Amino acid sequence: MRKKIVAANWKMNLNLSEGAELINDLYNGMPELSEHRLVVVAPPFVHIGQAATQLATMDHVYLGAQNCHQEASGAYTGEVSASMLSSAEVQYVIIGHSERRQYFGEDNEMLAKKVNQVLANGMKVIFCCGESLEVRDAGTENAWVETQLREGLFHLGEEHFKNVVIAYEPIWAIGTGRTASAQQAQDMHAHIRSVLTSQFGAEVADGISILYGGSCKPSNAAELFACADVDGGLIGGASLKAEEFIGIVSAMLETEVA
Ligand code: PGA
Repeated sequence: MRKKIVAANWKMNLNLSEGAELINDLYNGMPELSEHRLVVVAPPFVHIGQAATQLATMDHVYLGAQNCHQEASGAYTGEVSASMLSSAEVQYVIIGHSERRQYFGEDNEMLAKKVNQVLANGMKVIFCCGESLEVRDAGTENAWVETQLREGLFHLGEEHFKNVVIAYEPIWAIGTGRTASAQQAQDMHAHIRSVLTSQFGAEVADGISILYGGSCKPSNAAELFACADVDGGLIGGASLKAEEFIGIVSAMLETEVA
């Protein structure tokens, strides 16, 4: 059974007390989750110790991080390694968010190394892909996303690949209020699954959760999550308000598990 996941990406927002308050509000309002319908919360690094303690009291709400370095350790001032994250109870790491690709020069080759670090340390990867408006307007979004998947993930063997979650986030929809239509999301998710099928076979591809991200809100989540190949969401802005995030989680819980 494929997992449905709603993941919170706080990005560079909230101080420690605001973060603690938000998780407390999630604790108080979170509907009942399960092994197959789960939540990930990815706060900034400084929150991780505190968030680990708070989330330990919540069932099926897992701690995530937003990035890690591509090397195991060493003289990389200011960076955080995958093994540090794993030792801090992190279970999911977002890799290749478009903001990291755009502002921090992360290319697919570097992302493949980050993916390896995360998996080697026993955590799961949330691998982001998605095209710019220019690429979509040119009609080449399918090829663009396929290249991101191939170069970032296709060096993995099947056993490792099973620990990857894909997040499709069209850049033109992130933080813009402009969501992909349910049909646009479904079309790309189906394309992604067919690319995964050609590499790993149908059984593996059918088991991989593919999340949608980009201006997902309580008002549009149900329609997006009802699509056959949309297995939940990666939520930015709306994850900073407990009520909105819980609204999106509730929409996930109302959809059928594939
Ligand atoms: P958004 O961000 O929900 O604020 O559009 C999504 C993301 O970047 O993960």
